[in-house]
Amino acid sequence: MKLGNRTVLVVGGTSGIGLGLARRFQAAGNTVIVGGRNTDLVEGLETVTMDVTSPDSIAAARDEVLAAHPELDVVVTMSGVMLIEDLWDPAHIAAAETTIAVNVLGTIRTIDAFTPHLLGRGSGTIMTVSSGIGFLPFPLMPTYGASKAAVHAYTESLRAQLAGTGVEVTELVPPAVATTPKQKELNPAALDLDAFLDEVWALLAQEATPNEILVEAVRQHRYAEREGTYAELVERRSASLKNLPNR
Ligand SMILES: NC(=O)c1ccc[n+]([C@@H]2O[C@H](COP(=O)([O-])OP(=O)(O)OC[C@H]3O[C@@H](n4cnc5c(N)ncnc54)[C@H](OP(=O)(O)O)[C@@H]3O)[C@@H](O)[C@H]2O)c1
Repeated sequence: MKLGNRTVLVVGGTSGIGLGLARRFQAAGNTVIVGGRNTDLVEGLETVTMDVTSPDSIAAARDEVLAAHPELDVVVTMSGVMLIEDLWDPAHIAAAETTIAVNVLGTIRTIDAFTPHLLGRGSGTIMTVSSGIGFLPFPLMPTYGASKAAVHAYTESLRAQLAGTGVEVTELVPPAVATTPKQKELNPAALDLDAFLDEVWALLAQEATPNEILVEAVRQHRYAEREGTYAELVERRSASLKNLPNR
């Protein structure tokens, strides 16, 4: 995709991967706006305050962004929460509800808010964000995996429905990425954010935008079923369940 002279909204760009990606777009000379609840944490980027669990908040943010940037042509739906759940304890339902509200409904509502604008322009890019865990479950985070599998399936249908309109749809599928030093401590195998973004940027820079942005480290998860490693990898990933109470 063209990576210069674009106007990019990164919803869920106030920290982590979204903030890093937003800064890459900014450094490449694009106009960038980041959205989220905690916009006061962001320095050096235009922000819009929005909570993707609230339709009113999304609509207000959409109106604010399009009034200031009628040329908006890239929307990234990065907002997400990753929550551990103990399925022996029915109280996990609160985490499940939050996960679906942010990761699934938040993504769908954000896309809905900007699709008419992008269709009206007849060009643009929607980037959704799933996860390797959407393709290969991490059993400590059951609803998270389900939510990201949902984002993947939704993205496939969105792409089919927008085919021929000039609006392209791409799915970023991150592996474990350490966005803070603490995350690197917890999971030494996680990619460093800068190394991850280097790979993402090179993949995005290809002339034909890939349907899925797959850095090298996520391919073993994305294609585990095809490669016959799925059962073994899920078993390996299940080892962390021993950290739950009474296991
Ligand atoms: N890091 C990884 O290992 C990894 C791996 C695979 C996929 N991912 C996905 O990549 C995305 C970014 O993850 P990250 O690791 O960079 O996490 P992060 O640093 O926690 O960033 C999450 C972003 O989502 C936003 N968000 C959360 N709840 C929101 C809400 N109700 N309304 C609006 N925005 C909301 C946060 O903004 P506010 O708090 O300001 O609202 C923040 O900007 C997520 O979708 C995650 O599932 C991450």
